[in-house]
Amino acid sequence: MPSFSAKDHQGWPEDVGIVAMEVYFPSQYVDQTELEQFDGVSTGKYTIGLGQSKMGFCTDREDISTLCLTVVQKLMDKNSISYSDIGRLEVGTETLIDKSKSVKTILMQLFENSGNSNVEGIDTTNACYGGTSALFNAINWIESSSWDGRYAVVVAGDIAVYATGNARCTGGAGAVAMLVGPNASLILDRGIRGTHMQHVYDFYKPDMASEYPVVDGKLSIQCYLHSLDKCFQIYSAKARTAGLTAGPSTLDSVDAFLFHSPYCKLVQKSLARLMLNDFLNDPNPDFSGKYAGLEGFKEVKLEGSYFDKSVETAFVNASKPIFEKKTKPSLMLANQVGNMYTPSLYGGLASFISHHTVEQIAGKRAVLFSYGSGLASSMFSVRVTDDLSPSSGIHKLVTSLSDLKSRLDGRMKVDPVDFDKTMKLREQTHHLAPYIPVGPVETLFPGTWYLSEVDSMHRRKYERVYPVGDDASIQASDVKKSSTLEDSSVASSVTVN
Ligand code: ACO
Repeated sequence: MPSFSAKDHQGWPEDVGIVAMEVYFPSQYVDQTELEQFDGVSTGKYTIGLGQSKMGFCTDREDISTLCLTVVQKLMDKNSISYSDIGRLEVGTETLIDKSKSVKTILMQLFENSGNSNVEGIDTTNACYGGTSALFNAINWIESSSWDGRYAVVVAGDIAVYATGNARCTGGAGAVAMLVGPNASLILDRGIRGTHMQHVYDFYKPDMASEYPVVDGKLSIQCYLHSLDKCFQIYSAKARTAGLTAGPSTLDSVDAFLFHSPYCKLVQKSLARLMLNDFLNDPNPDFSGKYAGLEGFKEVKLEGSYFDKSVETAFVNASKPIFEKKTKPSLMLANQVGNMYTPSLYGGLASFISHHTVEQIAGKRAVLFSYGSGLASSMFSVRVTDDLSPSSGIHKLVTSLSDLKSRLDGRMKVDPVDFDKTMKLREQTHHLAPYIPVGPVETLFPGTWYLSEVDSMHRRKYERVYPVGDDASIQASDVKKSSTLEDSSVASSVTVN
């Protein structure tokens, strides 16, 4: 059991936030340069224009449940957490395979051996924002009178696929699981959230039979930037009042800025946009220093400047050194896997951590911007613990994410022709019942859950590639046997590949 208890606390538990993290992405990708050629667009459009290098994707062997099963089990195993110690499990996703049954209930299969079914939380959905809502729910639970002293687990997962056309290259897939509790390594700043919510049709999924969204690309970019402005203004005002930041520049006061990343170029423009906000908010901008050459932009209005190239270029150039240091290290997964939707922002957090040592990030603060079309958006911040004692969880957290790059490098490149075939197969089969998937199992990473069958009543059966390496200590008894969802006692053999 965790060493803390609700009963021990007179007030709020201390330092609530992310204790541990785990990331999952598919074992195959398509190269964006090759995709440019295949799609017949000009060389550099996806790689330079949008800033993307590779895009992860799933065959018909993976669905939202396999992504979440895999990442949760890895989180629990790597951190030696007992399933009995989890009192809340929240899933944020926009990849729906059922309009009623939550992914959370499927994840309860992992809890069966522990006998713990006393686990609050279900799924939460609004485009790419669901993971943030799930995280806020988990934090709020731990800071509330409902808390019973146990950890929460938050999972953000999605398979991001677009119809053929200009949006397809901005897809991706993956999942991030976070263990949430007190005495955390990444502590959420209390009461300093800025939120903007609005009704808009920029990206939505009205066709229940399709995995693809309806997208108004330009409107979605405008809504993203408008939401960024709104959330930043609220966040900055609250942070100043709380004494977290000093002076008119939030950019100067905070160590890292992480964003939901539809594609990396938009993130660089977003960081520039924060500088524009700081600049317009500054009654005495320093034109001889960081704002040199920006004198002509003092009368810019935020509302009218979303696609103003002169404003964008000037502030992208002026903010470049800040971008390189405070944002770029967070873009590894976004650049290499693509837009994972709900996990995108948290993949950014994992990427940022994986680029630093414990000593480099101890005590540092990161601002996070979450955006989900439709729309829901929030800005909040986390502070990395400055407790560097040997027992501090920060060492384990940093170590556990240090292999992200080698894991990315260990993936298999797939030809765009085969990627296209896979997309067509998913289109034709993702809703079929009965259905036996045909995608290869042997190319999945060890420890990956996969879909083995959908029966005539749409019940999905999952199996797992036997884990190796770090997970070698996991014995067959720990690995969930494949089972039908409606009757978990119908267990068959562990799949060994
Ligand atoms: N070399 C270098 N740059 C190039 C080249 C080239 N050969 N060709 C084009 N570019 C640049 C363009 O100038 C443009 O740059 P800019 O944005 O700085 O002006 C950029 O590449 C993209 O080109 P566009 O012609 O604007 O791209 P298009 O309109 O075809 O599609 C879009 C881009 C709208 C992002 C599309 O991929 C899409 O709809 N994606 C999904 C929606 C999305 O991600 N929205 C963001 C927020 S909502 C969310 O998270 C889902």
